[in-house]
Amino acid sequence: MFEGTAIEASKAFPQYDWFASFETKEAAGIARNAMILDIPVETYKLIRNRFLDKDKKGSNCLQKTELFNETIQKQTKMKDKKKIVVFSGAGISTESGIETYRGAGGVWEKMDAMKVASYEGWYNNPELMQKYHNERRKQLERIMPNEAHYILAELEQYFDVVIVTQNVDNLHERAGSTKLLHLHGEITKARSVVHSDLVIDIGYNEINPGDKAPDGYPLRPHVVWFGECVPSIPMAIDLFLEAEIVVVVGTSLQVYPAAGLLKYIKPDVPIYIIDPDKSNYQDKRIIKITEKAIVGMRMLRKFLLENHLTNKSKP
Ligand SMILES: NC(=O)c1ccc[n+]([C@@H]2O[C@H](COP(=O)([O-])OP(=O)(O)OC[C@H]3O[C@@H](n4cnc5c(N)ncnc54)[C@H](O)[C@@H]3O)[C@@H](O)[C@H]2O)c1
Repeated sequence: MFEGTAIEASKAFPQYDWFASFETKEAAGIARNAMILDIPVETYKLIRNRFLDKDKKGSNCLQKTELFNETIQKQTKMKDKKKIVVFSGAGISTESGIETYRGAGGVWEKMDAMKVASYEGWYNNPELMQKYHNERRKQLERIMPNEAHYILAELEQYFDVVIVTQNVDNLHERAGSTKLLHLHGEITKARSVVHSDLVIDIGYNEINPGDKAPDGYPLRPHVVWFGECVPSIPMAIDLFLEAEIVVVVGTSLQVYPAAGLLKYIKPDVPIYIIDPDKSNYQDKRIIKITEKAIVGMRMLRKFLLENHLTNKSKP
């Protein structure tokens, strides 16, 4: 948000002298953001108010079930194979070269999460938010899935594997996993700031000021930020309720509502957690593999193949 008064803003951005007609600091900031997004200021105000309004009333985030991956719904029951629900987080991609957010060396040690990954950040400084996401998208183009991603894809031969990931990268699908729910969106996609179901594939390209969705509204990254609701939680709950085995890999279980999904696991279902950090989750059902993702997934693959195959899924 521009910090000066409206008059100062109009001096700083002389080509937008209509700033002077805004009387408060906040209004000047709104005008500046409208300019960055290249839309009329009234449109920006409308969008902003709609979101703030939504926040105050509680979320209406269940509105867009289209975001759910339909293929998961269609294929969700596979009678011959045990159903493994994998809950993955940033840690599974660390050995590919993507930093986690939390922990030593994590992204939040270097920058303020609220500035680059929150709903407030977007309304205060959309330029910085786009820049941050453009850089993450570019980085992803150079990064490859690691063996942990590949093992999960390979396990589909023996188990009905569904991955619920908090990651916005595309490494699970590039490794070959076919049943995937991205809880927090996908960085290689963009969507309309108004119609959240209007999602387009942008690959590794940048979103630039003035880029519009097919409905004429500005594009934003298709990523769920802090302060926003998570539309695919109900779908994820259904998956956890159906799980016969749960594998949790590379997540600090600190981000809600995602972390709350574990309470939907049925009581007799084993939970395997792979994470080098010993401290992050305690429950007597848990079998903890205190290793990084690649080594941990190698150990778990062996264990699953030796102990959890049904007669029909045996090779
Ligand atoms: N790759 C990505 O898409 C990416 C990267 C960073 C953050 N995020 C976002 O961060 C949010 C934070 O939640 P989170 O729980 O996923 O991440 P987090 O940063 O909160 O926690 C990461 C966890 O991974 C563990 N870890 C670190 N190195 C590991 C390794 N080599 N193998 C296995 N585990 C390892 C850490 O001990 C920690 O428990 C998510 O919403 C996600 O969208 C995504």
